[in-house]
Amino acid sequence: MKKEITRRQLLGYGAVMGGTLAGGAMLGNDMAIAGKDKKTWAYHELDPAETEKLGYEGFYEGRCCFGTFKSIIGQLGDKYGAPYEDFPFEMMKYGTAGVAFWGTLCGAMNGTAAAVGLLLSGEDRDKIITSLYAWYEKTEFPIYSPPKPVHDCNMPKTSAGSVLCHRSVGKWLQASGNTFISKEKLERCARVAADAAKKAVELLNAHLHGTFKEGAISTTASSCLACHGIEKEANALSKMDCRICHGDKLPHPKR
Ligand code: HEC
Ligand code: HEC
Repeated sequence: MKKEITRRQLLGYGAVMGGTLAGGAMLGNDMAIAGKDKKTWAYHELDPAETEKLGYEGFYEGRCCFGTFKSIIGQLGDKYGAPYEDFPFEMMKYGTAGVAFWGTLCGAMNGTAAAVGLLLSGEDRDKIITSLYAWYEKTEFPIYSPPKPVHDCNMPKTSAGSVLCHRSVGKWLQASGNTFISKEKLERCARVAADAAKKAVELLNAHLHGTFKEGAISTTASSCLACHGIEKEANALSKMDCRICHGDKLPHPKR
């Protein structure tokens, strides 16, 4: 992408001109530009299939959180230049393996949510992330089958039941008989990154075209939240499927 003079350079120029008449005129102009600048993080339609491929490749470049984020924001940078291309992508590596190998939020969910958060705000952002996470909890993946896999290996599908890396990876390792440090596990997570990136872009496209419908959280969570929602008395802050930690036992042993 050919670079034009960036807005930042223009703003710098305005500062140099400060105090002069021309500088004053420039300042007014700058403010208009600065206001517009915020909107340049807008989403432009992306191809889900292309994003899926980039998610897979991005995983091998910098793992789950980095790869999924870059498959969206980096792709916008390749197509539309600034400000997307100026993002410090390297920082997204913090999310690897549930944040610095803590096994908390799956990096593919962290990276895609960060991309959504950069492009949208408020309810729109939260509804898309909720739909993405609800999809992740219940979907059997990996779905993506790369034409030229980095590691061509047996690839069972498992549903994570949770957005937590710990459980998502753990269930797949049990089903496949692999270990965390195996190349098979890397390949699995690369394909999950592809799936997540594709799903995020499908949701963003639907939002762009006004056809987006919020995905439902698990029936367990919604039944428990009837009493435990954040605005209720016995409140618990979560939209996660409660079963994975609290089990299925209802009614409560003691209430
Ligand atoms: C009909 C309303 C209702 C539903 C539905 C409900 N809860 Fe509760 N829950 C309560 C109330 C009220 C308390 C507080 C009880 C107390 O103080 O003894 C509670 C307490 C709890 C506690 C605290 C420990 C305990 O056992 O007392 C946990 C954990 C819990 N609920 C989990 C869940 C989960 C998981 C679900 C869904 C599978 C669920 N609840 C569904 C009303 C409900
Ligand atoms: C990742 C595991 C996990 C998930 C998922 C989870 N919880 Fe919990 N929850 C816990 C733990 C751990 C505690 C603390 C238990 C303790 O202190 O004995 C807890 C405590 C609670 C309590 C007791 C009050 C409190 O806040 O400490 C309630 C009520 C509760 N959870 C409801 C829910 C509901 C409803 C859901 C689903 C929407 C849910 N939890 C999902 C792990 C989880």
